[in-house]
Amino acid sequence: MTTPLNEPTTADAVAQWIEQNTRSSDRFGYVAASYEQHRLDHGCFDVYPYPNCPLLGTLAASSPARRLLEVGCGLGYGGLWLAYGAGPEGILETIDRDDRHLEIAQGHFKAEGLGERIRALHGLGASVVADLEEPYDLIYFDTDPAESRRSRTLRAAVEARRFAHFCESFSGPVRPQPARFGKGR
Ligand SMILES: C[S@@+](CC[C@H](N)C(=O)[O-])C[C@H]1O[C@@H](n2cnc3c(N)ncnc32)[C@H](O)[C@@H]1O
Repeated sequence: MTTPLNEPTTADAVAQWIEQNTRSSDRFGYVAASYEQHRLDHGCFDVYPYPNCPLLGTLAASSPARRLLEVGCGLGYGGLWLAYGAGPEGILETIDRDDRHLEIAQGHFKAEGLGERIRALHGLGASVVADLEEPYDLIYFDTDPAESRRSRTLRAAVEARRFAHFCESFSGPVRPQPARFGKGR
């Protein structure tokens, strides 16, 4: 079999090709690209963009999700995709313990015209989650993996609130739940 011209021929080259081609069509890719510099400037170690956020946007669009929650806002990359994907009727609440991360994220939300539909909540996931009102159509959980594995409180809060969809980019002890839509859907 002959390889078409310009096709990558090694695993590394394939990974690089995918990266280049997906990034160029990622409308919020510039936000994902800002994380590395932020980590250097801020000296933090736990804020990374999840590369499959465009897929989260697709999930929000196809559900369709109206109320969304993200635990671990970071600099807003995932939140942008979730709110954008959910469309004009979607409302996202996003939590982070780091007020500097939230401030930067809010700047991105506003710049992208999504500020009105995204509510940034400051605090530890476990305690903020406990005060929120269910139901949510889609949940994206993306905080510190160590805490997510350790914290019974957070897991219990997540499970007790019967979140509709649960994603965890760090494969911890909480398994993804099948989609469960809010009342009346
Ligand atoms: C991996 S980043 C989130 C990236 C973001 N979801 C995205 O898609 O771009 C993890 C974030 O969780 C925050 N965080 C870590 N532990 C937390 C906790 N216990 N409660 C709330 N936020 C937490 C960190 O400050 C960091 O901003």
